[in-house]
Amino acid sequence: MTINQQDLTTLQSTANTIDNDNIEKKSVEENVSQTVNSSAESDLIEEELPEEDSVDITHLRTPIKVDLSPVYNFLGARTTQSWVDAAIKNLPMIIQDHANCEKKAAGTAMNLIFRYEFSYDLQRKLAQLIREEMLHYEQVLGIMNERGQEWKYLSAGRYAKGMLKHKRTYEPAAMVDVLIIGAFIEARSCERFAALAEVINDERLAKYYRYLLKSESRHFEDYLALAQSLSDENIDERVAFFKEVEAELISSPDAELRFHSGTPA
Ligand SMILES: [Fe+2]
Ligand SMILES: [Fe+2]
Repeated sequence: MTINQQDLTTLQSTANTIDNDNIEKKSVEENVSQTVNSSAESDLIEEELPEEDSVDITHLRTPIKVDLSPVYNFLGARTTQSWVDAAIKNLPMIIQDHANCEKKAAGTAMNLIFRYEFSYDLQRKLAQLIREEMLHYEQVLGIMNERGQEWKYLSAGRYAKGMLKHKRTYEPAAMVDVLIIGAFIEARSCERFAALAEVINDERLAKYYRYLLKSESRHFEDYLALAQSLSDENIDERVAFFKEVEAELISSPDAELRFHSGTPA
């Protein structure tokens, strides 16, 4: 068989195309394997870093963005500018009350765990929540310590009492109401951390507040889901009721400034 010059040229160009294809394929494969390797590497690095459980806030990973729209939609009112202004002016007091809130959040969840032992879901979710709230408590204590801020007694504001007085007194309605109230407290905390993080003149504290958004928004969703799953009836009406009560507590004049207080009177 003889190969003429034209055939030879065609064969060579076909071979080149195959080679180019191979090179392209190879480089795509290399890219993919590099991406896989580098993401495996970054996973490894991330795993090595202390994540959610560091008491030292320097090592915390702050989420780039947390979608707060479910929180904003759930709440009936946004924090007013005058509360934010007052909070910025009284930051040590807000930090002190925040420490109280973390401790109370863990305490309330612990009470629920003892009172309602029948639900696996409730036990498990609240056990995790208590762990996280106590970690937040330790972290806020650390913040107070590094700022040279001494512990100061602060009376409770009107906020939680203002909702709890509407709690029904018979079961399982009482349990459902406490869980709904828990959802509002968590959602409001989240909304206030976001509001403070935007304007606070202390990047370390602002970063810590942004770090809290992830867990507190999950706590709100967990409480709400528990309330619905443990209720025989649809809870929408109760949620709408507490939405109004909570919004009123946040929007109406309040003589005391607290983390969850109303508009400064
Ligand atoms: Fe917390
Ligand atoms: Fe929480």
